[in-house]
Amino acid sequence: MASDTLRNDRFLRALRREPTDTTPVWLMRQAGRYLPEYRATRARAGSFLALAKTPELACEVTLQPLARFELDAAILFSDILTVPDAMGLGLYFADGEGPKFERPVGGADDIARLHVPDPETELRYVMDAVRLIRRELDGRVPLIGFAGSPWTLACYMIEGEGSRDFARAKALAWNEPALMHRLLDTVAQAVARYLAAQAAAGAQALMVFDTWGGLLGPAQFREFSLRYHAEVAAALRADPAARTVPLILFAKGANGHLEALADTGCAALGLDWTITLGEARARVGARVALQGNVDPALLLARPEAIRAEVEAAIADFGAHPGHVFNLGHGITPGVEPEHVRTLVDAVHEAGRRIRGT
Ligand code: CP3
Repeated sequence: MASDTLRNDRFLRALRREPTDTTPVWLMRQAGRYLPEYRATRARAGSFLALAKTPELACEVTLQPLARFELDAAILFSDILTVPDAMGLGLYFADGEGPKFERPVGGADDIARLHVPDPETELRYVMDAVRLIRRELDGRVPLIGFAGSPWTLACYMIEGEGSRDFARAKALAWNEPALMHRLLDTVAQAVARYLAAQAAAGAQALMVFDTWGGLLGPAQFREFSLRYHAEVAAALRADPAARTVPLILFAKGANGHLEALADTGCAALGLDWTITLGEARARVGARVALQGNVDPALLLARPEAIRAEVEAAIADFGAHPGHVFNLGHGITPGVEPEHVRTLVDAVHEAGRRIRGT
């Protein structure tokens, strides 16, 4: 396997909280619309979904940011909503709008009908993309596979599209908790199976995005989000291919639950920008690595401001092992690619300086 010849293992070492020569960095949505070459490939594909569903094109855009910047990891180009799509909901993107489902989950009958997709057949295009990207990366940097969290996927499945508050999903949790648990249980099985298959296909780290966990109050977060994070993590630990693959858990807006999240069995926590790295490290740094967490809007600032903020974030974490630099959420479309270069290079410089390497 190509993993034998991994030439840059900073990212995997940091996830294991082992010393590194400098701070590893990758960025959520590093392959995306801020890159002209991404827009060109997407235009060739015809749509975002055609791009994501064609392994050769998904591989091409996965590698684009690595050709420009000294990133320490690649992330599979795909989407969290591929799983509900494979469950039969019919994912589509109306022009200029976010994701939508043709057949959202309405009630008990819809939930009873849902099945756990077989990744190697029903999500074959994702597994083929993982295998192809691993081959094309040829050991340059590790590949991250990912999935949405059960709660975040359930939000989209019930609402049928994006929302500011996902009120319909929350109402179902309050009105029919047993039904909500039935849905979350099926989605958690689907997510665990999908992530395990990505590991078997060659993903060297796995990340779960709980973008909407932070919408829930504390008790509901524990009941409807946290519990299923632990289930997914336990299923992965019991899987021969995924057992040794580090799992990163990103629950946006859920800083009140960092300790509990660190106890789910993940290797690292992703952080948004509403907490300092120093505070997060003081709370959970002995248990897990931390990934994050500068405000994505920093990439709209002047280069000097970008360098100063990167320096401050790295100083705040300190010269300890266990930090993967990232944004606190995805890169936004209007960002100047040269600003991304400034940030990536500033991370490596500041990371070396603080270690004296
Ligand atoms: O980070 C990467 O480079 C990997 C690719 C990736 C995409 N989506 C590609 C994408 C990842 C990791 C995701 C995850 C994802 N998808 C999340 C969780 C992370 C987060 O952002 O909170 C969510 C909630 C989704 C659902 C989704 N997909 C939304 C809300 C949208 C529309 C938002 C937008 O930026 O337009 C998408 C579409 C999408 N997924 C795009 C990309 C690059 C933009 C599509 C395009 O090219 O038009």
